[in-house]
Amino acid sequence: MSEFLEAMVFRHACKVFDAEKQIPAEIFESILDVGRTSPSSFGMEPWRLIVIRKPALRKALKSACWNQNQITECSELVIFTTDNDTVRSGSPYVRKMFERRGLPSDAVDTYMGVYKNYLAPIECDEVLLENWTAKQCYIALANMMTYAATLKIDTCPIEGFDKEGVEAILDLEYGHSIAVICAFGYRTKAQSEQKRLEMKQIVEYR
Ligand SMILES: Cc1cc2nc3c(=O)[nH]c(=O)nc-3n(C[C@H](O)[C@H](O)[C@H](O)COP(=O)(O)O)c2cc1C
Repeated sequence: MSEFLEAMVFRHACKVFDAEKQIPAEIFESILDVGRTSPSSFGMEPWRLIVIRKPALRKALKSACWNQNQITECSELVIFTTDNDTVRSGSPYVRKMFERRGLPSDAVDTYMGVYKNYLAPIECDEVLLENWTAKQCYIALANMMTYAATLKIDTCPIEGFDKEGVEAILDLEYGHSIAVICAFGYRTKAQSEQKRLEMKQIVEYR
């Protein structure tokens, strides 16, 4: 089996982490780097990752995350937040992201126009914009989880949290919001059997 497929079998949503076992720093850095190098719509990289290490902060967050033990017991806790304001069309950030491709300025202007048209029905609504940036985070999240699994590192993606509560605890900057959380660490026991729909239930050919 390929290393990738082995990782898909290894990965499960780890509920109980070994609180004593730490991910080596350079290994964790490489997991973060997989998130950093993930693709995003128009290459806007709207994700801003916060690694929570302070025990007191972990404790506070746990209460806003349905009291899930993974929050305090995992080795590394990553909060995927998004910077929604800087990705608005016409912003200097957006121009810079297109300019870094080394394009002539009229081509950058064209990109800016296409981007503006694309984003118009999204950025007119704060929730739609947050959802669009959050979608990018899930790509980074998936890559990081599967890469971690190739290293026999466990993960638990977490959406079970009170969004306003977590945002208040983290005192996020204006225009930033939380997308998803992921715990990284090591399992204490064997994973339960993987339950999935059958291929014919989810795939159709036309
Ligand atoms: C976006 C997302 C959010 C999730 N949130 C939670 C969560 O808050 N707590 C939890 O224990 N599991 C959470 N899970 C794990 C799922 O319940 C789990 O992935 C699913 O039941 C399939 O099981 P498996 O990942 O072990 O194969 C989440 C999974 C995803 C993809």
